[in-house]
Amino acid sequence: MQKAQFGMIGLGTMGRNLVLNMADHGFVVCGYDRNIDQQKRLLEEGKDKPVQATATMQQFVNSLETPRRIMMLVPAGKIVDAVIDEIKPFLQAGDILIDGGNSHYTDTDKRIARLESTGIHFTGMGVSGGEDGARFGPSMMPGGNADGYIELKPILEKIAAQTDEGACVAFIGNGSAGHYTKMVHNGIEYAIMQLISEVYALLKNAAGCNNDELHKIFTEWNNGALQSFLVEITAKIFLQPDNVDASKRLIDAILDRAAQKGTGLWTSVSALELHVPSAAIDEAVAARDLSSYKKEREIIDSYTSETTAINTTDKKQLILNLHDALYFGMAVSYIQGLHLLQTASDAYKYEINIAEVVRIWKGGCIIRSLMLNDIRKAYVSNSSLKNLLLDKDFYNLLEQKRNALVNSLKTGMDNKIAMPVLSSSLNYFDMFSTGRLGSNLIQAQRDFFGAHTYERIDKEGNFHTDWN
Ligand code: 6PG
Repeated sequence: MQKAQFGMIGLGTMGRNLVLNMADHGFVVCGYDRNIDQQKRLLEEGKDKPVQATATMQQFVNSLETPRRIMMLVPAGKIVDAVIDEIKPFLQAGDILIDGGNSHYTDTDKRIARLESTGIHFTGMGVSGGEDGARFGPSMMPGGNADGYIELKPILEKIAAQTDEGACVAFIGNGSAGHYTKMVHNGIEYAIMQLISEVYALLKNAAGCNNDELHKIFTEWNNGALQSFLVEITAKIFLQPDNVDASKRLIDAILDRAAQKGTGLWTSVSALELHVPSAAIDEAVAARDLSSYKKEREIIDSYTSETTAINTTDKKQLILNLHDALYFGMAVSYIQGLHLLQTASDAYKYEINIAEVVRIWKGGCIIRSLMLNDIRKAYVSNSSLKNLLLDKDFYNLLEQKRNALVNSLKTGMDNKIAMPVLSSSLNYFDMFSTGRLGSNLIQAQRDFFGAHTYERIDKEGNFHTDWN
């Protein structure tokens, strides 16, 4: 039998679809999964394609051409280490072992260090796009080292989503850069999803839009400046009939408790550690947490009998405002995520090319959007851009939309509709574009109670005052 060019360990939805995608492009692939049913499923779905499956790990490794290209798509955490321990004795220097799951970047660093002496290239790779992405074109973020990537490039570039600027895959940077970048991608994903849900709440509860109108609004938005995967699927969601009662829409039957697997939280923790303000992501995580207190929310809700809602009189204007408010919030989500990525790249010596990351996010991934074209332009013209707001054109674009956001927020506040990410986006923008803040008072207080000293606006040095 012809040796396989790529091996996959873990034939769940993502693993199976990725190798089928490779087989579609003519690559010979081999899959391994402890679960025999998963092996069978791969062979079934891959019949007529160059797809193999093996019963043992050793047979799996032997079925691959060298250097071996192997990806693990197994649940993040201990299982990844268990698979590494199992496969390591069969591998040799030069082989490439990819972890394609959502592993924490610090685990990836540890695994790289653990395998360093073996000469095995351990590659932490973020894969975005869900089931369809894996099958027909994901966005992939491989880190590790450039030598390992050379062996993967021809295959990954073929199976990735394709855009006007090429395949949605590139070597991201050293060590855990790939997993770090995917983590930030997910942080941005959390923020944008929360923004859309805030806009939905306003459209539904303040503007009184029904599901058909919501479908129409999001469809129209997706045909313009807000074009993005998340806006596109949102439009479709409103049309889905309820599978229990087909006369109703499914969206109205879904419990308002948002779950999470943790990547948004990881992004916030890392941002706080690196002192990069990323309140849109933090608020999105907090909003999911708050939503989970369903019982408590209902009890407290019952304390007020009267409803504060005042349906807006100018529905049309509110919809226009919300369009720009969503644009503003989405932009701030990218701004914060990319600022974090740039800072982490410097701190952890990843050497990430931000313009290149933005390019590979243009297709295949969950946060793909038209807006990324403008964002990419800014980073192409200045690769060391610390924060996108420093780009005057981009700043002006948001400044023009600020009023619409303010007016949307006023409507939300009047109607008691919480908008944590929309409002934090405004605060972020306003603070970042204010030359002199009120923070001098904090310095005075610190010096007052703790002699922590302060700096002055008119001369160098640290000063202390006896305030009493
Ligand atoms: C992707 C997604 C994916 C993520 C899910 C669920 O890029 O394809 O980011 O990797 O796991 O979106 O994440 P939560 O369960 O945390 O919402």
